[in-house]
Amino acid sequence: MKRVLSGIQPTAESFHLGNYLGAVKQWVELQSEHDAFYCVVDLHALTVETDPAVLRRRTLASVAQLIALGVDPQKCTLFIQSHVPEHNQLAWVLECLTGFGEAGRMTQFKDKSQKSGSDRTVVGLFTYPILQAADIMLYQANLVPVGEDQRQHIELTRDLGERFNSRFGATLTIPEAYILKSAAKINDLQDPLAKMSKSAASNSGVIDILDNPDINAKKIKSAVTDTGKEVVFDEKNKPGISNLLTIHSALSGKTIADIENSFAHKGYGEFKSEVADVVATYFTPIRKKAEELLADSQGLQKILAEGADKARAVASATLASAYDAIGLVPPRKR
Ligand code: TRP
Repeated sequence: MKRVLSGIQPTAESFHLGNYLGAVKQWVELQSEHDAFYCVVDLHALTVETDPAVLRRRTLASVAQLIALGVDPQKCTLFIQSHVPEHNQLAWVLECLTGFGEAGRMTQFKDKSQKSGSDRTVVGLFTYPILQAADIMLYQANLVPVGEDQRQHIELTRDLGERFNSRFGATLTIPEAYILKSAAKINDLQDPLAKMSKSAASNSGVIDILDNPDINAKKIKSAVTDTGKEVVFDEKNKPGISNLLTIHSALSGKTIADIENSFAHKGYGEFKSEVADVVATYFTPIRKKAEELLADSQGLQKILAEGADKARAVASATLASAYDAIGLVPPRKR
C-alpha cells in the first residue's frame, strides 16, 4: 500500500467548502486504499500571529471537522503535528541542506513577505516549506495530496530528499505530488473567478461548513451571477452559475447535465434556493457530528493520543536513521 501524507492548517474557525471539496473529501477517498497520515499542522499556523486560546480552539475544531467529514482514525493516522516533536528535529536537518536562495525562491514566501515587508515577516515563514518537507519525509510518504498552489513546496521536498540521499545514502523516500482534481475547484461566490479562500477580502463569498444554514443560504442567494437566465455550465461566460453547478453536483451527486435539465425552464432564483438546500442537507449532520466530538473532549484527546502514538512510531524510526546517516552520535540506550 502506498503511503499518503497531507496536512491542513488550523487557521480558521471552520473549514470552507473549497477546503472540503478541494482537499478533505479526497483525503477521505484516499484513506481506504492507502496507508494515510493526516495532520493538523499547528506549528505551521504559528507563522501567523494568533491568540493562544484561538489557536487551541481552532486546532481541536479542525480535528473534529476532519472526523465529522469522514477522515476515520480507524482507517488512517490522524494527529496534531506538534504532538510529534520529530517534525522539528528533521526540519532542522533539512534546513542545513537548504540554500538560502533556494528557500527565498518559494513563491508563497515571496508573496507573503512582500505583502508584509521584511521586518514584519517572521523567519518561520521563510523556513515553512522546509518544515513541510519534514512533515512529508518523516513518514516516507509516496504521495502528497495537495492543491496546485503547493506544487513548488513538494518540488523542494523532493530536491531536499534527493540531496540528503545522495550525500548520506538512501534514507528518505522521494514523494510525489498528487494534485487534487481540478473538477472540485470551488470559487468565491462573490468573485467567481477567484478560488474560495479563507484569506478572501470578504467572507460573504465563502461557505463555512460549520456556519448556520441560514447564513449560508443567504450567501448562496446573493452569489454573483450574470444577467442571463439559463442555468447552464459555461465557465467562461457564466462563472458564477458554473461554480454553483459544481457545488450542487459535488454535494448532490447529480451530474451537471441532470441539474441543467431540471432547471431548463426555471430561473436563477429557484436554482440558488436548491443549491442552498443541497448545502444545508449535506452539512447539517456533519456540523452536528463535529459539535458532538468537540463536546466530548476526553474522547477527542484519546483519538489524538492514539494518532500521535502511531505517527511517532514511524517518525522516530525515520529520524533515527537520518541522524545516524549524517553522523550524529546516537545516545547510548540504558
Ligand atoms: N502548506 C500546506 C498548505 O497550506 C499545509 C501543509 C503543511 C502540508 N505540511 C504539509 C500539506 C505536508 C501537505 C503535506 O496547504
